[in-house]
Amino acid sequence: MNEKQRKEQSQIKQSNPADIKSDQDNLNRLKDKTSDDFIKYFEATYEPPNLRKAQKRGKQDVKYHDNFEIDEQFKGLGTGRKYLIRTYGCQMNEHDTEVMSGILEEMGYEATTNQKEADIILLNTCAIRENAENKVFGEIGHLKPLKVENPDLIIGVCGCMSQEESVVNRILEKHHQVDLIFGTHNIHRLPQLVENAHLSKERVVEVWSKEGDVIENLPKRRQGNIKAWVNIMYGCDKFCTYCIVPYTRGKERSRRPEDIIQEVRHLAAQGYKEVTLLGQNVNAYGKDFDDIEFGLGDLMDEIRKIDIPRVRFTTSHPRDFDDRLIEVLAKGGNLMPYIHLPVQSGNSNVLKLMGRKYTREQYLELVGKIKEAIPNASFTTDIIVGFPNETEEQFEDTLSLYDEVGFEGAYTFIFSPRDGTPAAKFNDKISMDEKKERLQRLNKKVNTLSAEAMKKYEGETVKVLVEGESKNNPDVLAGYTEHSKLVNFTGPRTAIGQIVEVKITEAKTWTLDGVMVEESVEVS
Ligand code: 5AD
Ligand code: SF4
Repeated sequence: MNEKQRKEQSQIKQSNPADIKSDQDNLNRLKDKTSDDFIKYFEATYEPPNLRKAQKRGKQDVKYHDNFEIDEQFKGLGTGRKYLIRTYGCQMNEHDTEVMSGILEEMGYEATTNQKEADIILLNTCAIRENAENKVFGEIGHLKPLKVENPDLIIGVCGCMSQEESVVNRILEKHHQVDLIFGTHNIHRLPQLVENAHLSKERVVEVWSKEGDVIENLPKRRQGNIKAWVNIMYGCDKFCTYCIVPYTRGKERSRRPEDIIQEVRHLAAQGYKEVTLLGQNVNAYGKDFDDIEFGLGDLMDEIRKIDIPRVRFTTSHPRDFDDRLIEVLAKGGNLMPYIHLPVQSGNSNVLKLMGRKYTREQYLELVGKIKEAIPNASFTTDIIVGFPNETEEQFEDTLSLYDEVGFEGAYTFIFSPRDGTPAAKFNDKISMDEKKERLQRLNKKVNTLSAEAMKKYEGETVKVLVEGESKNNPDVLAGYTEHSKLVNFTGPRTAIGQIVEVKITEAKTWTLDGVMVEESVEVS
């Protein structure tokens, strides 16, 4: 779609938001009906994740809605009521929670951390591994007694799990305390959905299995006033064979550069010190534009000119990490020299089965290029051990790659088969004990290399963005370095929200201890 078509579409949407309205009409018609009607509505509109269909999805039909607004009729609905959202999983979910909080607050709801006084509790769920799902089912069970104490309480399940057919069926059958289920594409419909849940006292289910739109102007209740998340794109088209995300989050669709730049400028003006540009696969940013050639490198080049001290991005896919991005990152300034670059495995055959679309050699070549352009760059990664039939030698390739890159940290996981993904159907001869043993060996290496990386900072002075008190000791402050190392240090509370210099006195495996260099705090 070119710029002209986009504008036209957005104007059409402003005067006639047909899709949204017809769904709203459908739900309004059902307002006074029974739960059977809702289930029928759900069955008529819900499509389960479908690999073949998802892979064939088109490139053309992303719809941009520039005009999100909460209808006046929903604005007082939350007055005198409280909400609580529990968030599981990745930063994308954290940020979705900020949007849902923003919407609920515009409806008049007030935040609470006490579940006993909440009128609505939402579980914003993660589907990436089985244990993430088990946690949520455990929590759904724990919430049941609250419903006995307060029958008006609305319990909702949203996020990635609600995009899975099996999860929705299980909740409908077994967890009657859940009143509301909605998917990742339905967040902007929260006002209508909550109203329906309130009025009908019946279960409301709305999960669109569509490819996904881009909706601008959503309200946000950000979690802090120092660091902020900024979505730059949604969804993923990579279809790694183990991963559920392309099904739960829809296809890759980028926000327009001007909308992102405006959001970052606004955050800078509000005094935020750091933004993290978010996407499941940020390096594919802009690939879906057909009117402009504008990738992540171009976007970062614009954002680095904005007066905000720190800019980060996550998560990268090695395949799309191009030379333009490296060239821009090398300009430094507010672009942080820290790169999270998931590798998943150090063996080319395993990478092939994972559908990662790069080899061990290509990954190492990319890291080499980045190190050459940005000599002080540090790297962290994600690794899956025990992919179906991974041999001991293949696992050892992962260990040797870890050394060769010199990663300073990693999120490590045992492969978890996800329903509907190709890898879940691979038969697997490797026992769980073997997988656990490999994970332990890998984690040992991860700890050793982290401790070594930390040790280098002893006696050095680093710049720390101070976030607040340390978790374990209110007399100690905590913040992160440019390379994303957590520093606990002594210093005045006036340093909170500032970037200060800290002399490192002791390195631990995962954190640094230090003392603030007094002159470094700005006096305002
Ligand atoms: N099993 C184990 N780990 C997984 N990840 C994604 N899907 C799975 C799965 N099915 C890991 C990958 C990814 C991170 C967010 O979660 O390492 O980078
Ligand atoms: Fe999942 Fe990341 Fe692969 Fe996309 S790129 S399918 S989110 S692991």
